Amino acid sequence: MSVTLRPYNSSDCKAILDIINYNIIHTTNIYEYEPRNLEEQLSIFEEKLAKSFPIIVAEVNQKVVGFGYYSEFRLRIAYQFTVEHSVYVSKDYHKKGIGKLLLAELITLAKKQNLNTMIAVIDSENQNSVSFHKNSGFEMIGTIKQSGYKFDRWLNSILMQLFLKP
Ligand SMILES: CC(C)(COP(=O)(O)OP(=O)(O)OC[C@H]1O[C@@H](n2cnc3c(N)ncnc32)[C@H](O)[C@@H]1OP(=O)(O)O)[C@@H](O)C(=O)NCCC(=O)NCCS
Repeated sequence: MSVTLRPYNSSDCKAILDIINYNIIHTTNIYEYEPRNLEEQLSIFEEKLAKSFPIIVAEVNQKVVGFGYYSEFRLRIAYQFTVEHSVYVSKDYHKKGIGKLLLAELITLAKKQNLNTMIAVIDSENQNSVSFHKNSGFEMIGTIKQSGYKFDRWLNSILMQLFLKP
């Protein structure tokens, strides 16, 4: 299976939205209740690109099957060398190495942008993502207990961190 990574363009947004909305509707991976619409997702991405943050997609046979991006961890200026990232792969393409490729590319881009550290905020029920990040060198640094509430239960957020400089 040949996987191509490339920068996002707005025609990718519908395929990405399908992946995001699947995760909103069926999982605790995203702390939202309602599916997003295309306009909302286009404007979320436009805002990130306007701030020079990268958005990348993974394609198999010209079909977008995954994406990744990073942007501010928090908005205050002193956080400017810290970013929070997201990597999502369509569920039919999990465990084929696509997430690992996307995350490696985000790490490369973040180093080029002279950033200091990347943070993953992961729901504690999502142990796949915890393993995935450990496998790419991220270290677990803490848990924010009961930071979310979805599907009639409290959710805990695990924070994982990677330093980008030697
Ligand atoms: C987490 C996610 C991006 C991983 O993508 P993927 O393409 O399936 O992962 P890869 O095939 O590249 O796997 C890389 C490593 O991650 C770990 N991993 C991935 N899926 C795993 C699973 N289901 N169980 C345990 N470990 C897993 C493994 O260590 C794996 O390395 P290995 O294959 O050498 O053992 C994908 O499962 C996903 O999109 N999940 C839903 C969204 C999400 O949780 N995103 C992360 C929030 S930032």
